[in-house]
Order: sequence, then C-alpha cells, then structure tokens
Amino acid sequence: MKILSIESSCDETAAAVVEDGRTVLSSVVASQVEEHKLYGGVVPEIASRRHCEAINPVVRKALADASLTLSDINALAVTYAPGLIGALLVGVNFAKGLSMATGLPLIPVHHLRGHIAANYIAHSDLKPPFLCLVVSGGHSHIVEVTDYTAMKVVGKTRDDAAGEAFDKAARTMGMSYPGGIHLDKAAENGDPLSFRLPHPKVEGAPYDFSFSGLKTAVINLIHNASQKGNTLPVADLSASFRKAVVDSLTANFLQAAQDLGYRRLVLAGGVSANSLLRRRIAEECASRQWSCYYPPLSLCGDNGAMIGAQAYYEYQAGHVADTSLNARATMVIGC
Ligand code: KG4
Ligand code: ZN
Repeated sequence: MKILSIESSCDETAAAVVEDGRTVLSSVVASQVEEHKLYGGVVPEIASRRHCEAINPVVRKALADASLTLSDINALAVTYAPGLIGALLVGVNFAKGLSMATGLPLIPVHHLRGHIAANYIAHSDLKPPFLCLVVSGGHSHIVEVTDYTAMKVVGKTRDDAAGEAFDKAARTMGMSYPGGIHLDKAAENGDPLSFRLPHPKVEGAPYDFSFSGLKTAVINLIHNASQKGNTLPVADLSASFRKAVVDSLTANFLQAAQDLGYRRLVLAGGVSANSLLRRRIAEECASRQWSCYYPPLSLCGDNGAMIGAQAYYEYQAGHVADTSLNARATMVIGC
C-alpha cells in the first residue's frame, strides 16, 4: 500500500510516499528555519503563509521523486494534531481537497505517533509493545506503546518540553534558533561537571519531568556573570546543562521501564538527535541487556515519511477521516 503523506505542524512543510509503513519511496522537507531564525523562534503567522506557498511544490516533488503519479497512490495521510493551528490547517485542508478530488481515503495522523513511527522505517524488526521517550520542541512524554495505535502517556513534563529548554538555554548563550543542536555540539567540548545545576524531580510523580527551573538557573548564571562584565565558558555550561537534562530524561525513562516491565526502549522526536541522550540510553540498555532503538538523525526532526509510516497502521486499525476532519492544536496521544 502506497501512502502519500503530508506534515505541516510547525516550521517544516513535508511530504513523502511510504510503502506498507516501512519503505520510504520519497521524502521531501522544505524547512522555514532560516526565516524564523531572524526572530529567535517560530512566528506562527509566517509559518502558515510559508506552508501555503510550499505545500503544492513539496507534494508534487514527493510524487516525482518516487517516480509516481496520484493514480499510483492508495491513500493520503496528514498530520492533524498537535501543533500550530494555522500551520496544521494548511496541511489538513490541502489533504482534504486532494482526497475529495481523487476519491482516495484520507488518514489523520497524530504528530507524536508519527515521531514514534520514524523508528519503524529505520528498524524493520521493531514492533510494539515497547516504552518510548518522545522528546520534541513541544512535548516530553514517556509513552507505553502497547500496539501500533494503542498508547498511554505515563510521564510528561509539567512545564517546558526538553527541546524548548534546550532552545531557550542555547538562545541565552547566543546560539541561533533552533539552538538544541548547537548546544549539543558545544557540549561535546565541555566539562559536564563544571557547573552545578538543579536536577528537578516532581514530587509524587516519578516519571514526570520539570525543566523550567533548570532553564532559569542557566539564564540567571549568564545574566549574573554579564552584570559583572564576565562571560561564562559556553562549552562547559552547555555540557553541564545537557547532562542535567539527559540525567533527568534517562532516570525517569529507565525507572518507568523497570517498574512497568519493559525491556525494549525507543527514543523519538527532535531531541532524540541529542548525542548524549543516544549514547546514554544505548549504554544503560546494553548494561541491562535490554534492546534500544532510536531513529537515524535524518528522521528525528519533523518529516513526512514518519507520518506515512504511522498512517499505514492507522489505516489497518480503520482510522479514516471524512470531510469534517479539522486540525487541533492540542490532542493527547492516546486517543
Ligand atoms: O520534533 P521536532 O523536530 O519538532 C517538534 O515537534 O517540536 O523537535 C524540535 C526540537 C527543537 O527544540 C530542537 O532544538 C531539538 O528538537 N533538537 C535538539 C537536537 N536536535 C534537535 N535538542 C538537543 N540536541 C539535539 N542534537
Ligand atoms: Zn515534531
């Protein structure tokens, strides 16, 4: 089954053709990041307008790159939640129009389910059940994936998402948006023990995260130093911050796996590109003889292929939209 999938939830306009949930025939991602960089973050109105301009050429290129036409496609898929509402609406309406014009079924896909499904593309042996740490710019969840379309959030952030914390800390250190990757690179040359930063725990909720205190601690350190005319060593501060975030993510994830009896652990979302997080989870799993999976770097960030992968399983489960499909800015992953 060949699915043409569309993703427009944030600042990437993306489309792909994916066969049977696992084989990517084409994947096109048009990033708007250079424009949003000027403002230090995503400007929703600009994102919507750029999606409007990019969506038609991106979808056409996805078909052309796969050497296919619409008549070769068996179904359409689109991210409908969660995300920036104006951005999502562009993809949803485009997909609805295409579905009406072609008569092809339209499969609605939850963005975070798509991030998880990026792993199915890269790891042909991976099947549920498993425990997944989904860490992106907007979410930090520990999710029990009991089946391809059955999921339950067992832990989540109480304030900032991990990616958001990385980006804000990086911005305060003068790095350009999105700063997570720059902070990660700087951290590779720093001493993670040079700054003592808080490792916040959420009382009574052992799998939940809190990153806002950590972020504020870094911002205060930088501001206090600059008021005294000093600058802090960016590599050391990056390494200390990255260690604190990864310590917290890893501790809760491993604790949840231990308590809930999972021996197969999966990373997903933009922050799963973080080099320390990948190393640490791989090491911890290896020492316990658990299996560990994460997407290749090319599939960690937003893309259309992950939406096409998840759509295959949604379709098998009978999840098909009608013409009333609407976009939603928020939606739990488990429904
Ligand atoms: O999943 P994603 O592409 O978009 C959302 O759905 O939010 O995640 C983007 C987030 C950004 O906050 C970005 O800074 C972060 O992922 N990110 C990283 C790294 N690469 C991307 N954070 C830490 N280390 C990285 N190497
Ligand atoms: Zn995402």
